[in-house]
Amino acid sequence: MTILLLAGSPSIPSRSTRLLQHVGERLAARGHRHVKLHVLDLPAEALLHADFGNRDIRRAQDSVAQAEAVVVATPVYKAAYSGILKAFLDLLPQSALKAKTVLPLASGGSPHHMLALDYALRPVLSALGARHVLPSIYATDAQELWSEQDGLAIDAGIAQRIADGVEHLSASLPALRDAADYDPVHFSQVRCSV
Ligand SMILES: Cc1cc2nc3c(=O)[nH]c(=O)nc-3n(C[C@H](O)[C@H](O)[C@H](O)COP(=O)(O)O)c2cc1C
Repeated sequence: MTILLLAGSPSIPSRSTRLLQHVGERLAARGHRHVKLHVLDLPAEALLHADFGNRDIRRAQDSVAQAEAVVVATPVYKAAYSGILKAFLDLLPQSALKAKTVLPLASGGSPHHMLALDYALRPVLSALGARHVLPSIYATDAQELWSEQDGLAIDAGIAQRIADGVEHLSASLPALRDAADYDPVHFSQVRCSV
């Protein structure tokens, strides 16, 4: 089983994808295998037209299905996560994250939207059946600097949050393997009180 690194930025180069890459390196250092999926590489028309049967979309769905954990990275766009990431998540089966651990990451231009992962992305991950959604990691652009010469320089506080996130993710894997399957509640059965 592998860990899927899911990059949700429409940009190249991408700050959030660099953070994701950093997480991937830390996971590799702990001996975890990972595969990468950049939503930007998927066919735009299939994403926009919700073409569930498209060959590349199906392959991407398989990558999610085969992963035991997912690290998902997104830029903050208009106080939420990116539209291209939503387009992809909309094409996943309802229980696509069933029995998986998810670690959400985001980069944003300012600290003002640091809760975007928690109020916007986390409910979607839960609706897709994620067993554990670990504490989110948010970095502002000023907290992750990049140069060709020196590579990625991350603020010490963010680096520590990433180290903790990787630790939690790693620790959750044996429990996931041992846990009995459970069925997430289908959205048609969700009851709300108003
Ligand atoms: C269209 C657009 C909308 C954005 N909206 C926000 C926003 O609402 N809040 C914020 O903090 N940053 C916002 N930003 C800044 C990006 O989130 C930030 O630069 C991020 O690190 C970009 O990540 P990426 O390089 O992986 O795409 C926006 C950027 C763009 C291009």
